[in-house]
Amino acid sequence: MFKIIAPILALLGAIVYQLELPRMVRIFIGVGHTAEPLSSFPYTCRRIYHKGMEACEDMWLSQSTRQLFLACSDPLARAQWMPNMLHFNVSGRGLNDAIVVVDIDEMSPDKLKPRVLETPGFPGTNGDGRLHLVGLTGVDDSDGNVRLWVINAKPSVDPMSGEFSDNSKVGGNSTVELFRAGPYASSLDHVKTFAHSQIATPNNVAPVGDQGNSFYFTNDHGVTKTGIMGHLAPVLGGGDVSFCDDTTCKEVARGLKFPNGLAKGHDGLIYVPSSILGVIDVFEPQSNGNLTKVDQIDVGYSLDNLAVDSDGEIFAAVITDTFKFFAANNDPYGKDAPTAAVRIHKGLDGRYKVAKVIEDSLAEVLPASTAVVHDPKTGKLFFSGVSSPFVGVCEPK
Ligand SMILES: *[C@@H]1O[C@H](CO)[C@@H](O)[C@H](O)[C@H]1NC(C)=O
Ligand SMILES: *[C@@H]1O[C@H](CO)[C@@H](O)[C@H](O)[C@H]1NC(C)=O
Ligand SMILES: *[C@@H]1O[C@H](CO)[C@@H](O)[C@H](O)[C@H]1NC(C)=O
Repeated sequence: MFKIIAPILALLGAIVYQLELPRMVRIFIGVGHTAEPLSSFPYTCRRIYHKGMEACEDMWLSQSTRQLFLACSDPLARAQWMPNMLHFNVSGRGLNDAIVVVDIDEMSPDKLKPRVLETPGFPGTNGDGRLHLVGLTGVDDSDGNVRLWVINAKPSVDPMSGEFSDNSKVGGNSTVELFRAGPYASSLDHVKTFAHSQIATPNNVAPVGDQGNSFYFTNDHGVTKTGIMGHLAPVLGGGDVSFCDDTTCKEVARGLKFPNGLAKGHDGLIYVPSSILGVIDVFEPQSNGNLTKVDQIDVGYSLDNLAVDSDGEIFAAVITDTFKFFAANNDPYGKDAPTAAVRIHKGLDGRYKVAKVIEDSLAEVLPASTAVVHDPKTGKLFFSGVSSPFVGVCEPK
């Protein structure tokens, strides 16, 4: 018996001795904020229900082609298969995950035509052609096309038998997939697969944009994919930021507590949100991909994905009530959760200012959001959530 109890006591000790424990508890419970309903904000919001455009963990807006790309799945499947959250029921995984695109300038409610993008020639897992989507981020290229880097959280397969491995023991086999698309896309060209032992629990990508296909990504649980240490990695700071160029990958920042949807700012810096600390660590990239930490922004909310708009402002989907957020994820058709978005503005003095732009404290309209995208041209805000069966759109009043 002691054999089991001793490591558990050691772990509990490690957790209690975390200096940041009080902060983690505060962020988790979501104390210290004024909860405001949608009616307090100058927006009109509505839901979009569309088959295939569900459980979209992340979004990316291409300004050059005016296309919004969404990484979508099946709301009920997320609770079964999501290796990042240590959900390893392979037989319950989503079988129809797809990147969906919307032409946002042709988006009146009666004219909405999201397209589920085909991925011809993409091998998937064991040749099934399937994706298992988490984060995605693109780059507008000067030739008018876009490149999309996509996290594919696929299951591990036993190389001998060709059958699925016991993924709860070996973990998933996530890759980063690079696709290319043009304007009014109906399909994605598969460019290449990044597979590497350092791509272990990838959450999201921040393409460098100007050096080949290089990108930064977060391993939200570091390289520990399974087991009790996997479950504790967010609290113990097992997360990392890693960097891949066209040939290899390496860890470039460690000790992070659930690093989530990172982004590259227009200032060239890499912004890495920590979901359970409610802060954004700011890093300066070096020419060899290494990162030097230069700042930390106190957001004070549990953070999910960041998105940089075309003006260079950073928008973050924040989770204002973690209990309700998880309850909604476990019962996506039955429960809604409050949500909010914040904008992080860098002043001329280099200081960051954080402001809430909208909140749906009563969970009236918006999804239990993990991503928010702002379009400066129209002022619209788009919301999607990892398990939500709908997407939200808000227009300025
Ligand atoms: C795994 O998923 C399948 C298919 O959705 C489901 O029937 C089964 O009950 C799930 N297993 C567990 C242990 O939840
Ligand atoms: C993991 O994925 C890579 C790239 O798709 C593949 O080559 C490899 O065989 C997979 N390994 C396992 C154990 O599934
Ligand atoms: C920076 O990168 C180099 C080469 O990739 C590596 O050997 C070195 O340890 C890194 N330095 C730091 C301080 O992380």
